[in-house]
Amino acid sequence: MTFEDIHLPYFDLLLAQLEQENTKLELAFGRHVHWGYWSEPPQGVVSPEDFAQAAENLTKKIYFAANTKNNQRILDVGCGFGGTIASLNENFSGMELIGLNIDIRQLLRAQEKVKAHSGNTIYFEAGDACALPFPDQSFDVVLAVECIFHFPERSKFFAEAWRVLKPGGYFALSDFIPQNFFSPLTAFSSGWPFARGFFGRCNLQYTLAQYRSLAQAMGFKGRIEKDITENTLPTYSFLRALGGELGIKDLSAKVETGIAEWTSRLGLLRYRILSFEKLKSK
Ligand SMILES: C[S@@+](CC[C@H](N)C(=O)[O-])C[C@H]1O[C@@H](n2cnc3c(N)ncnc32)[C@H](O)[C@@H]1O
Repeated sequence: MTFEDIHLPYFDLLLAQLEQENTKLELAFGRHVHWGYWSEPPQGVVSPEDFAQAAENLTKKIYFAANTKNNQRILDVGCGFGGTIASLNENFSGMELIGLNIDIRQLLRAQEKVKAHSGNTIYFEAGDACALPFPDQSFDVVLAVECIFHFPERSKFFAEAWRVLKPGGYFALSDFIPQNFFSPLTAFSSGWPFARGFFGRCNLQYTLAQYRSLAQAMGFKGRIEKDITENTLPTYSFLRALGGELGIKDLSAKVETGIAEWTSRLGLLRYRILSFEKLKSK
């Protein structure tokens, strides 16, 4: 798979607005491109500064779920503008940090924005999550922050994560996971016209039970399964207000965000952080 095979209109909009130096967007999505985490979710619309802090909180939750510590070699798959790599760079030392993305435009921005310090090295590479361009057993940690639903197949990505991890290494991700009974209804998310909508192809059909059996089949031991849906909900009012200010007319942007919001508020779609350890022997 190459970038030509995927189409993510939300990134086209983001890159165009960032190019025009839209300061609100720069604050909210110039570093991380994912939902926020509030330990005590506030009422009302949050500021771009507050949203940026919440996005940083979510990233940290995910890399701490992967047992991250100093002096590790870490792969961040679907790295966006390099926000997770930037956060690791700021909080750890002696790290070898590699960000992988299928979209070269995002990698160019990441390269420009994120500079290594504290004895860390940083490298951004183009590639597909389901065909990782790295040798076997070469990472201590693999991360996939809010991106797995775009990948062609979760099972292929899991096999690749397992292959590149050292024995005893950790793999952590976040995903929108439907409740079992609701999963068949989320078929809409990966079919036409949604696959051509604002958020591109998103497969929101994969259940927690499927994750558990995939991990087990692969030789991963499940470590953390955290449901943080409630902590992410202020993201939706923020997105609605921002969309209004930017004058986003794209109907699919409103419909897709609205469906994600209401299925989440109703408890049908859960935002979860999952982490796994690659067992030393299968
Ligand atoms: C919602 S963004 C998350 C970006 C980043 N992880 C963050 O949290 O800021 C989803 C990311 O997945 C990337 N992506 C989508 N399909 C991919 C694939 N097959 N291989 C690698 N990256 C992919 C997109 O280019 C985008 O950067």
